[in-house]
Amino acid sequence: MPSIFVFDAYGTLLDVHAAIARHRAEAGPEADRLSDIWRTKQLEYSWTLTLAGHYVDFWTLTQRALDYALERVPSVDKKLKSRLLEAYFKLGAFPDALPTLRALKAKGHKTGILSNGSPAMLKGALDAAGLAGDLDAVLSVDALKMFKPRPEVYALVTDRFECTAADVTFVSSNRWDVMAGASVGFRTCWINRAGMPDEYPDFPPERVLADLNALLTVG
Ligand code: LAC
Repeated sequence: MPSIFVFDAYGTLLDVHAAIARHRAEAGPEADRLSDIWRTKQLEYSWTLTLAGHYVDFWTLTQRALDYALERVPSVDKKLKSRLLEAYFKLGAFPDALPTLRALKAKGHKTGILSNGSPAMLKGALDAAGLAGDLDAVLSVDALKMFKPRPEVYALVTDRFECTAADVTFVSSNRWDVMAGASVGFRTCWINRAGMPDEYPDFPPERVLADLNALLTVG
């Protein structure tokens, strides 16, 4: 039966470490540490601002998080900043993203994205990765000016597809995002590419998959 597959963007379809990968040689031996701090701070800012009742768009937070990471990792030349941001704006997709979206569409399913990303950065990355044509909806939290995991954000999906939460299979690599999806009643798939230990035992994923290809056995 056709159903609705909604994906997280950054970390799930789009590889957040692809920006540093493009400049690894110049970034030097602490490239991965820089990238980890960049991602961690980007998410931390989204959570802390939302908890305090504030909103600053995700692209601005991405820039501020990179500034912080570059201060913390002084071995990486600050001159790389503009090139890293440019690479992040046109971030690459994981190799299994496009074939999976195509195959789900071919089976008659609906597909969408629900992301913290601002509309401009989502458009930049999805166009660059060639994913835009295989998505029925690209939903950004920017419409509500609050970030995941606020439950209001996940209601953007049921509003857009005019469906109930149980009609939605929500797919994310971020375990905290899966927790929030499960808590609003979505069916959930946790894409655990790195084989990380499970968390949030009160809100388990319906399925744990090693990559997006494995989704095709579900849909
Ligand atoms: C997103 C962040 C969580 O795309 O990666 O929503």
